[in-house]
Amino acid sequence: MKILILNGPNLNLLGKREPEIYGKQSFEDYLIDIKAAFPSVEIRYEQSNSEGKLIDFIHEVGFAYDGIVLNAGAYTHTSVAIGDAIAGVNTPVVEVHISNVHAREEFRHKSFLAKNCIGVMAGFGLYGYQMAIDFLIKRK
Ligand code: DQA
Repeated sequence: MKILILNGPNLNLLGKREPEIYGKQSFEDYLIDIKAAFPSVEIRYEQSNSEGKLIDFIHEVGFAYDGIVLNAGAYTHTSVAIGDAIAGVNTPVVEVHISNVHAREEFRHKSFLAKNCIGVMAGFGLYGYQMAIDFLIKRK
């Protein structure tokens, strides 16, 4: 089983960026825990700050992998193109947000991705990524 975790803009700053919202752990550090939690899953991790690169990653794995766990960051609320990329591939995508976007500014309540995803996780901190992977394994 192969899963891509794909993080979007500013998520390379996790641990340093607004820690009161996003926590103090870097994603690289958390990735060690995730890989240990799912030893039988091949987990690849990519991050990009650019919309086109995120789309390229979705295209690259979208007919081959068993799941994509996507935190598109602020592009979630703006990107018709990422929404279309998800609709255009076969691999199921789970949308993840570290924070509870519904408890924040109104512009974060809208997702251009959610309707093309199999589910959405928000507000569970980094643990949301683990929940998403767990779900992708169980639905197989
Ligand atoms: C986020 C929520 C987005 O609104 C924000 O722009 C992010 C992170 C989250 O994980 O909570 O960059 O996706």
